Amino acid sequence: MGHIVIQNVCQAYRNRRHHTREGDDPAIGYGDCIQVLDNVDLEFADGEMVCILGPSGCGKSTLLRIMAGFEPATGGTVSIDGKQVKRPGSDHIFVFQHNGLLPWMTVWENVGLGLRHMQAPQARAEKISEHIEMVELEGFEHHYPHQLSGGMQRRAELARALAVNPDILIMDEPFSGLDFLTHMKMREEVVNMHEFIGKTTIVVTHDIDDALIMGDRIVVMSERPARVKMNRTLDFSRPRDFQKDPALNKLRSEIFLMLGVAYAV
Ligand SMILES: Nc1ncnc2c1ncn2[C@@H]1O[C@H](COP(=O)(O)OP(=O)(O)OP(=O)(O)O)[C@@H](O)[C@H]1O
Ligand SMILES: [Mg+2]
Repeated sequence: MGHIVIQNVCQAYRNRRHHTREGDDPAIGYGDCIQVLDNVDLEFADGEMVCILGPSGCGKSTLLRIMAGFEPATGGTVSIDGKQVKRPGSDHIFVFQHNGLLPWMTVWENVGLGLRHMQAPQARAEKISEHIEMVELEGFEHHYPHQLSGGMQRRAELARALAVNPDILIMDEPFSGLDFLTHMKMREEVVNMHEFIGKTTIVVTHDIDDALIMGDRIVVMSERPARVKMNRTLDFSRPRDFQKDPALNKLRSEIFLMLGVAYAV
């Protein structure tokens, strides 16, 4: 479960105007058309950790939304395990979002949301508590999201995602806005989680080092309209340290250059 095939996916939006201009075609609405994805072709193996990089505004979140079935593409198809994705609602994809906690529920209740199907209350409580421990939120079980710091909220979101135990976990910039240490810890947590449960995980990040340290595969998108500029399997051994591994360091410089930064920092 979790083999994803993205074929010739294109996406265009029409930025609607309320007034007409010469040349507008009333049949398709008024406004300029913006092409966001340009024939994106990708294939992710079951259990792969894929990191997607690309300039801001190129279409990464758009691609994730299409993959999760939240919006239809103007062209191409996405299939999961041979079945075409047409709409959301599938239990086996979990999209990790910022502010994804329900504000009227405690940490315990939020983490328990994905475990509603578990009948035995004892086993369910054990699972919830196990995931709360995993992200080091013991003692905060009965706090509401607004009573937590930003980093703690993010950890609770991660516990909730992991408790659902999805076949595919989609994460859009999961570490953005976190302080350095929480970022490092959460990254480690995601890597450990992935090693442990081995589910297909797709992470969009702006951090090249995140992608190099975490990814089994790295995808670099171009400026909008986004095309695939690099799609490479990373078979470097773990734990990875680009300061000690010249080949990894070389790839790092290559990606910096590809994203328009001449000197890797
Ligand atoms: N519903 C929409 N209607 C019109 N334009 C949209 C819509 N959704 C996204 N766009 C446009 O598509 C482009 C890509 O947006 P997207 O959010 O996918 O970029 P991104 O790569 O995730 O950027 P960032 O790294 O900044 O998050 C942007 O120019 C955005 O304005
Ligand atoms: Mg985005």
